[in-house]
Amino acid sequence: MDEICLIKFVLFALLISTFSLSFVDARFTSSSIRSGPTRRNLGNPSCGTGNSIDDCWRCDSNWHKNRKRLADCAIGFGRNATGGRDGQFYVVTDPTDDDAVNPKSGTLRHAVIQTEPLWIIFKNDMVITLTQELIMNSHKTIDGRGANIHISNGACFTIQYITNIIIHGIHIHGCKPTGNAMVRSSPSHYGLRGIADGDGISIFGSSHIWIDHNSISNCADGLIDAVIESTAITISNNHFTKHDVVMLLGHSDSYVKDKVMQVTVAYNHFGEGLVQRMPWIRHGTLHVVNNDYTHWEKYAIGGSEGPTIYSQGNRYLASTNYPYAKEVTMRMTSKENWKNWNWRSEGDLFLNGAFFTTSGSGAGSSYTKAYNLAAKPSSLVANMTAGAGALRCRPGQQC
Ligand SMILES: *[C@@H]1O[C@H](CO)[C@@H](O)[C@H](O)[C@H]1NC(C)=O
Ligand SMILES: *[C@@H]1O[C@H](CO)[C@@H](O)[C@H](O)[C@H]1NC(C)=O
Repeated sequence: MDEICLIKFVLFALLISTFSLSFVDARFTSSSIRSGPTRRNLGNPSCGTGNSIDDCWRCDSNWHKNRKRLADCAIGFGRNATGGRDGQFYVVTDPTDDDAVNPKSGTLRHAVIQTEPLWIIFKNDMVITLTQELIMNSHKTIDGRGANIHISNGACFTIQYITNIIIHGIHIHGCKPTGNAMVRSSPSHYGLRGIADGDGISIFGSSHIWIDHNSISNCADGLIDAVIESTAITISNNHFTKHDVVMLLGHSDSYVKDKVMQVTVAYNHFGEGLVQRMPWIRHGTLHVVNNDYTHWEKYAIGGSEGPTIYSQGNRYLASTNYPYAKEVTMRMTSKENWKNWNWRSEGDLFLNGAFFTTSGSGAGSSYTKAYNLAAKPSSLVANMTAGAGALRCRPGQQC
């Protein structure tokens, strides 16, 4: 090998090792605490695990020709979210976001503000740093499959007073407060936005929302917050890491209209570096089913104002590093106040001293029926959540 070749080779080797290092994410570093089978890319099946969402589409190696199949695979309260299923494809070709009022054709912002239903996909890998909140319009699917898409280090998603949204297969991280700026929300309207909190995904007065298979971490405020009567929401198959207040459901304790909120949290991996609110719910109804909780520094699930919480078939593994954080649940009020709240646990697996303080007496079977979602045994959780987070999909191969 001559000198130039050698230098090229060394550079190439460096590139490869950086590349593979970036894949050694929290998912793999946390694998040492798992007694179950190893995680994705280490021999896990992509379908046939009992994960009813994934089993609906991930067995298909021609997923890229049948992308809209995904819209028929939702479960739980957000199961009717059709996103852009009934519209055309829109291919994002341009990762820039230079003008939040007059976005260029081919940008993600231009795609999401349109009035008609659209199924939005990406031409290639992209890092998109948004200058202002991405204010979406109704009937949109953002489908990151087949590309490595990062929404990072800028503003992130705002789903406000709209309906029918699917967000799938996106890396969302480093979301920051933005605002005090003009932002377009539809072809016919733009206006002044105040300061945004810096949520990963902010859901406000919206319904039929499905957030599936995203990797979400490290934002200024919540990773996903839903408020102001937002309902019919499913949050599934996501991989959450490195964040304090993960997910908040409900605007304020006094905003009782949030009693209408119905949210399903299923097949997610709540992973490394998480502290609390997975989620915290103020009013309304929460179905937590078949999730893998492996890290909480304070508690996993909390609530105020008498929400209904039904926890089924989850795996709760208390961290050895936080010996005082064994309790899954948290209520910041006296037992006198919460003893009749319906917080039920059924078929959950508790490891390393984890425990769930139940209250109320709500009947199990009626919940499951109403939610149209039967929990699988918690022994399957490791396999069912092995693919949580954004998938690396290639045309012609199972995702
Ligand atoms: C989990 O997946 C592994 C690898 O495919 C398989 O061998 C194992 O039987 C599965 N476990 C369960 C409980 O289904
Ligand atoms: C979903 O649609 C079905 C059929 O129209 C309807 O019966 C059901 O109430 C809807 N559920 C939700 C949560 O939107």
